[in-house]
Amino acid sequence: MNYIGSKKRLLNFLYNGISEITGLTSGTFFDGFAGTGSVGKFFQEKGFSIIANDIQYYSFIVNNGKLNIPENNKKMKKLIMELHQLGEDYEKNISDEKKCFIYNNYCAGGTQNLEFPRLYFSDENGKKCDVMRMKIEDWKDEKKVNQKEYFYLIYCLLEAIDRVANTASVYGAYLKKLKKTAQKSLQIKTIDAEISSQYSAKIYNDAIENLMNIETDILYLDPPYNNRQYAPNYHVLETIAKYDNPELRGKTGLRNYEEQKSDFCMKAKVEQAFEYVIQHSKAKYIFLSYNNEGIMSSETIQNILKKYGESGFFTQDYGRFKADKTENRNHKANSVVEYLHWVKKN
Ligand SMILES: C[S@@+](CC[C@H](N)C(=O)[O-])C[C@H]1O[C@@H](n2cnc3c(N)ncnc32)[C@H](O)[C@@H]1O
Repeated sequence: MNYIGSKKRLLNFLYNGISEITGLTSGTFFDGFAGTGSVGKFFQEKGFSIIANDIQYYSFIVNNGKLNIPENNKKMKKLIMELHQLGEDYEKNISDEKKCFIYNNYCAGGTQNLEFPRLYFSDENGKKCDVMRMKIEDWKDEKKVNQKEYFYLIYCLLEAIDRVANTASVYGAYLKKLKKTAQKSLQIKTIDAEISSQYSAKIYNDAIENLMNIETDILYLDPPYNNRQYAPNYHVLETIAKYDNPELRGKTGLRNYEEQKSDFCMKAKVEQAFEYVIQHSKAKYIFLSYNNEGIMSSETIQNILKKYGESGFFTQDYGRFKADKTENRNHKANSVVEYLHWVKKN
């Protein structure tokens, strides 16, 4: 998944800095703003037990899917094959088109009566997604799958649908015409089904501010850097993950996200929220990813950190996130400086 602020390309930079400060090669690693789970996965593979959290439910699903892979991989492969086949025969398998939430709200065919028909997916992919998502819910209700398996199947569907989304990258808007990748047929696949990990992970779906009682050796913070909220940018994935028939509004069919607005995206609130976490966390070592264009300056961050112990930072030059070509035209620099701030709490 191409995700705003993904640390996929910075994993070694993070690991080297964290190892240097903590000297730890095992223990508990709490990924407080987990997003796609790339950091937690990397540290899990290095031998840490992982706690992951994110305010978005699709991220909760993705982190479960990546970090808690079901033990019975034969069963998973079989069920994914069944989902695949259901999708291939979607026309036969839709009993009631009215129940197809994604088709009816995010595809041209289902939204043709709106003033602005929505084109997030092709009609075919919208219906395929609905058929598979409904089947996963049925399997959960019939107890054919346990909770871990249920999360894993939705994770595989989210990854598959994201690959055929008709967007420039995020779901804040759709493109006017179906782009090439969006014309391709939705293909669900098993992901890493062989690699059920020996380390289990505990995943939360909450604002980090509410999880300060958690015991951990390392707390890693990777909050949003600017005022772009994640909820409206990934609202379609949130709805596919929850499949809760929300009320939608506006041209892009946004669900309500009042409860998921992040203080870390608000200039007026971010410093207080950040300091609250540093002050109340039980972790000995806290790390923060941030860059030189974020809404808190490096100086502000260091001034807060040093109140609670010895602190410092590492830096690395890093390419800019590209949502689309035009979005970057106002930026002069081609790369930004990525920071890994740290504090060893007293
Ligand atoms: C920069 S991204 C994390 C990217 C992640 N490290 C990765 O590699 O994919 C920031 C994440 O913080 C989440 N978020 C924002 N505010 C939050 C809060 N108060 N508590 C928990 N998660 C929050 C967003 O939903 C988003 O997934």
